[in-house]
Amino acid sequence: MAVFPVRVVPDPVLRQKSKRVRLIDGSIQRLIGNMLETMHSAPGRVGLAAPQVGTLLRVIVIGMPGEEDIALINPEIVRRTGERSVTEGCLSVPGYFGEIKRAQSVRVKGRDPSGKEIRIKAEELLAQALEHEIDHLNGVLYIDHLESMDKLHKIEPEIAQL
Ligand code: NI
Repeated sequence: MAVFPVRVVPDPVLRQKSKRVRLIDGSIQRLIGNMLETMHSAPGRVGLAAPQVGTLLRVIVIGMPGEEDIALINPEIVRRTGERSVTEGCLSVPGYFGEIKRAQSVRVKGRDPSGKEIRIKAEELLAQALEHEIDHLNGVLYIDHLESMDKLHKIEPEIAQL
């Protein structure tokens, strides 16, 4: 396993749409292992999407504090409910955080690293992280959701990096 450098804006890879994974093989398992190690290489990181390490495949990992890590292949949001204001940061947009709107809760389906279909009902930070990482697979960054530049601020160290 290895820690990969995380791509930062304006790297064009962050703006491309990732491809669906057709076959979950050893290379996908290795990608997931490396993404988990990269996510865990600094405190405060709760998620990472494959394009952030330069791979345009639909793979995300989530590491919520105190909970088991989640790796999702071809994740899709099947339902969004409600709306709330959140504070959000991103490893690929270093030095800043913003105030944006996210769903109150989401339902997501995808496959786990063994290929089994899984469904997740998520609220709060987990819902936010899932929306954020799935956005990355579509070339979307949280800064695209800012209502105005007044909602973007210089970072404080304790803000979660998704
Ligand atoms: Ni991010």
